[in-house]
This record gives sequence, C-alpha cells and structure tokens, in this order.
Amino acid sequence: VEKVNALPKGFLWGGAVAAHQLEGGWDQGGKGVSIADVMTAGANGIERRITDGVKADEYYPNHEGIDFYHHYKEDIKLFAEMDFKAFRTSIAWTRIFPNGDEAEPNEAGLEFYDRVFDECHKYGIEPVITLSHFEMPYHLVKAYGGWRDRRMIDFFVKFATTVFKRYKNKVKYWMTFNEINNQTDYQREFAIFTNSGIQVKPGENAEEVMYQASHYEVVASALAVQIGHQINPDFQIGAMVAMVPIYPATSKPQDIMKAERAMQARYWYLDVQVKGQYPSWLTAYQRRAGYDLDITLADLDVLQVGKVDYIGFSYYMSFTVASKDNEPVDYHYNEAADLVANQFLQQSEWGWQIDPEGLRYVMNWLNDRYQVPQFIVENGYGAVDKIEADGKIHDDYRIDYLRQHIEQMELAVAIDGVDLMGYTPWGCIDLISAGTGQMSKRYGFIYVDKDDQGQGSLQRSKKDSFKWYKKVISSNGEDL
Ligand code: BG6
Repeated sequence: VEKVNALPKGFLWGGAVAAHQLEGGWDQGGKGVSIADVMTAGANGIERRITDGVKADEYYPNHEGIDFYHHYKEDIKLFAEMDFKAFRTSIAWTRIFPNGDEAEPNEAGLEFYDRVFDECHKYGIEPVITLSHFEMPYHLVKAYGGWRDRRMIDFFVKFATTVFKRYKNKVKYWMTFNEINNQTDYQREFAIFTNSGIQVKPGENAEEVMYQASHYEVVASALAVQIGHQINPDFQIGAMVAMVPIYPATSKPQDIMKAERAMQARYWYLDVQVKGQYPSWLTAYQRRAGYDLDITLADLDVLQVGKVDYIGFSYYMSFTVASKDNEPVDYHYNEAADLVANQFLQQSEWGWQIDPEGLRYVMNWLNDRYQVPQFIVENGYGAVDKIEADGKIHDDYRIDYLRQHIEQMELAVAIDGVDLMGYTPWGCIDLISAGTGQMSKRYGFIYVDKDDQGQGSLQRSKKDSFKWYKKVISSNGEDL
C-alpha cells in the first residue's frame, strides 16, 4: 500500500492525565475530599478499597499523586519539549466546590487552574478539560448518595457553568464525564463508585440504580453542553467513553448476537449524548425489567438539545464474548461473567488484551454510527519500567505499543476517512493508576521516582519513549 500522509495540520498531539491521579495537594488551597481520596492502593488483581472517610492509618496514593500541584511548571515544560499541542487533564471538582453543594466557588482552586492553563498557553499547548474524571466531592456521596439523587444535576451544572465562565478564553476543548460507560460493569464496586459515587445498599437492584444515575448524568451532560455553547459558541464539548470493542468468539449466530447485545449495553451512552435519544432496546429493557426510573419528558427534551460536538474516547484493548447454551432471549450483558480470552491477542501484565487493529475497527464503528469528529483522548501501555545499568529506562515495549496503535489510527484517517481531532496518550507522565492505585503500572514518557508505598524523590526523568514521541509529533505522525 502506498504511503499516505494521514493527519491534518493542527492535529492535536499531546498527552492525557486526570487531576486526582497526579495533582496531589489533596487538602491544599481549600480543596475538599473527593471520592479518589478515600480509595486505598490495590495491586495487580487486587481491588482498591473504599474507606468510610479518610482514615489516619491508611495509605491513600492519590493524596500526593506525583505532586503536580507543586511541579506543574516543570512538567508542562517537559510536555512542551516533546512538542505537545494539547494537554488533557481534568478540573478537580473539589478544588472549585470542596463539598459540591456550596453557594460560592473556592477562589484559590480557580486560581490554580488559571496558572496551569496560562502555563500551557505559554508554550502554545491547548488544554483539553474533563469536567468529571472519577473525582466528585465525597460529601455528595455521604449527603445525597451520589448520582442516585436528582439534585446532583444542579450541583454539576453549577460547577460546569462556573468553570466554563472562568476559563472561557483559556479552554476551548471540554468533555463532560470521563468513561461514563464504565458503570455498565455495575457489579464491580469500583466502576459504579468512580463513575457515580454510588455505594449499592443491601437489597437494592444495582442495575436499576446504575440506570438512574446514568440518566441524571446524561441530562447533566446535555445541560452543560447547552450552557457551554451559550457562554462561548466556539467551545467544543465532547462525550467521553471507554471504547472497548466486544467481539464474538466465533461466527456462531448466538455469539454474534451476544456481542451485539454487549456492545449495545456498553455504548448506548453515545446514542443519548450524540443523537439525543435513548435507543429502543434500552427503553424496552428497562420497561420489561420493571424499573421505576425518574425520566421525565422535560429530561428527554434536554437530551435532544444538548448533543455533544465530538466523541472523546479511550482505547486500550478489546474484549471477546462467547454465548452459552440456552442463553435466555432477554439475555443481558454481564461483564464480570461474560468475557473470554481472545486466542489471537497477547495480554499486558495486567491482563489487558493488546489489539492495535481494534482501534481502527472502533474508529470505523463510531464513524458509521455517529458521523461526528473523534478524539482519541487516552491510549497506552501500562507496564513496569526498570532502570537499567546506564541509569535509563529503555521502554521499547511502550514505543512498540504506541507505534502500532498510531499506525492503525492513521489508516482510519487516511483510508477510511475518519475525522480525527487529536491523540493524547494516557499518563504522558507516570501517575497513580486509577484501577489499582499503583505507581508501578506506568504509562509515561516521563518517569517519576515514586513507588507503590509512596516512597521516592518525585524526581522526573525522560524515558526512551520521550525522544521517540517528540519525533512522532514533529513529523506529524510520519516518522514512527
Ligand atoms: C481509564 C481512565 O480507565 O484508563 C484513567 O480514564 C485510567 O483514569 C486509565 O488511569 C488507565 O487505567 P489504569 O487502571 O491502568 O490506571
């Protein structure tokens, strides 16, 4: 195949992080306690625990993060050295509204992000901002039960409006809820807590609670989109989903149907956020299940007008499902039970199936259905890095992973005509893993000296991938 010059000028090359995973300064500048502040460290295969408030005798890795709160100038300078055009981070809700339900925002928190965004612009780096990335105020969990409560819509909209107004000339690219679809895996305490601040009570139907919370979130998202566009018509406000294509294990029709149903269950959020309405299968399912959901006609109108401008998504891996004998006709996807290994793919040390072609596949899948611009706002390889005898980290495995994914991304643009805004690989600087709370699951081009127990100098150093990625950006993706 002839070599194709894939990517447009102005393509947003960069990197991505989230406030709670790198900032630290968890109780500084008037910041309140977030849900990330009550999560302990897990390990590979060991879930993080959620404690009842902050306990003196527990270790909470997000409290210090990598102390970006005090290192942001140094870190952004390193991003600029790699030639970043964009830097994706989130605004910690608890810096702006420490409890979430205050009347007035916290000025010190607002000033912190002024400084961060100014520092980005100093180097011509566009901030790309997620409003809610697994870090809602913990007070809203305790006092309202998280997103199970309709009042959450008002709290979120107030937060969104405050930061839209404050940064209307500093931030153009926004996303509302990070990986809003993780909670389809509601059987997992982590997924529904990080997305929605929900702790399922005994006797409760977790799926029903999840659908209610999700509904309030998509309404809040649609309201934010509407308000954001009023504040600055140039704003680009996106949805954000964890894009994990779910393949059928074989061409057996039952496997195909099972994969289709699993895809529906994971990606209906985009139908609502991009097309402005619920898909028929879901309305039918919720009715059949007898769920008594608070979904008003006014809400449905809001969804119609608050459609997003683009689809932001993370891509790390693909899943596979296989049907079982006598699957019920109203079978419903259960991530905890339904996944099988894909014999054609290798896995990372954390069991994530590496599938570069899956990235091209999802870009086509999204394009066929939604016809809006796409933005790959996360992609990357979590791996243990070792400092070699020469004192350096030679992370060829990370370069290989990223190169293969960028190749597929470029094919999707050049051959398949996908409209792609940018590419911001995850954890451009090492940070706390969301899933495990580990430091040792590293994604960065920049190494940070800190271990899983919280020990280390926090000193930053460049891995081999740093130089490689700089070259990729400088050549606009030609020189991989
Ligand atoms: C996504 C999240 O789930 O993947 C990030 O948006 C997260 O917050 C990233 O860090 C990688 O996952 P993990 O569990 O390896 O940190």
